[in-house]
Amino acid sequence: MMRTQVAIVGAGPAGLLLSHLLHLGGVDSIVIETRSRQEIEATIRAGVLEQGTVDLLDSSGVGERMKREGFVHEGIVLRFGGASHRIALTELTGRSIMVYAQHEVIKDLVKARLEAGGRILFEVKDTALFDLDSPSPKIRFYREGKVQEIEADFVAGCDGFHGVSRPSIPSRHRHEFTRTYPFGWFGILVEAPPSTAELIYAHHERGFALVSTRSPEIQRLYFQCDPEDEVKNWPDARIWEELHARLATREAWKLAEGRIFQRGIIAMRSFVVEPMRYGRLFLAGDAAHIVPPTGAKGLNLAVNDVRVLSQALLDFYKGKSEDALKTYSTNALKRVWRAEHFSWWMTSMLHRFHDDTPFQHRLQLAELDYVVTSKAKAITLAENYVG
Ligand code: DHB
Repeated sequence: MMRTQVAIVGAGPAGLLLSHLLHLGGVDSIVIETRSRQEIEATIRAGVLEQGTVDLLDSSGVGERMKREGFVHEGIVLRFGGASHRIALTELTGRSIMVYAQHEVIKDLVKARLEAGGRILFEVKDTALFDLDSPSPKIRFYREGKVQEIEADFVAGCDGFHGVSRPSIPSRHRHEFTRTYPFGWFGILVEAPPSTAELIYAHHERGFALVSTRSPEIQRLYFQCDPEDEVKNWPDARIWEELHARLATREAWKLAEGRIFQRGIIAMRSFVVEPMRYGRLFLAGDAAHIVPPTGAKGLNLAVNDVRVLSQALLDFYKGKSEDALKTYSTNALKRVWRAEHFSWWMTSMLHRFHDDTPFQHRLQLAELDYVVTSKAKAITLAENYVG
């Protein structure tokens, strides 16, 4: 039996950052994780950080490598009808975004926690949460050949959409909202120079495509695909043919090809559970909500949850009050629903829906045209994009 103030389930961005911020405020936590350190540090996810995320990582002392190796972007490109249109994020909002991969954030946080003597228990199995509606909730799991238990004041469920935390809330205390999209994203990592200085979001008859980057040597590309499709159906030549077709433009522009060294298919859904609290269990990040990847809000939402939750927990321990804990869910959900709407909007505007009528397709094009010709609409996109 171990004892801590906050038991954190899941060593993703939410769990690790929460543990880090609590530590800075003098509050003890233990993080448990089903996967190994190597695995969490190698899992490829998105790579766009909002300015607020960058600022929080920086001000909490884990932004040094990000500032050195990340790339600041001040605009994005919308491409449709064979033409490109720049959305000037910084000009329109005064803020920018940073391209820095999620698994790099994970590496920085794990390093900071371990160097500060933080406890992260990797490769635990069969986690279960108990006594969540009592003053001393517990988590029990199997590790190093035996059953182990942590007793805490609070449990933070940061274990993602498929984790045990959310289902540990009795179903009568959960309201769940879901939308599943009839497509997925095929994502690749490529050894190639950048084809573009800024991310390109392309709407095309054949479906959506996205050109992103990771470094001067490595590029990240995505294209809309059937969610049931399999990676083995896509030999390299077919991937390039599809990307070239969807990104075709009348301008002088060429997509740089290279060796594809990572590929995978991502399902797309919108999901929210309300409230994000049950007794002494608080949910944060993907455990509580999922957005489709268009617009890259997932990691940024997790960071916002943890910003609000860490402050509420620190307030509690400073003896002030439980008020901030009581309003955590309401406060976090405001930002969650804004991002849910934005991600749904970007997804709906940019993808091809197989059952769309020609009328609906014309509406999509009219909306895209509006975004790139109306300053008001461009600001709407930009201020949501930068957070
Ligand atoms: C990336 C992912 C996104 O979902 C997005 O909207 C932009 C970029 C990325 O992985 O680089």
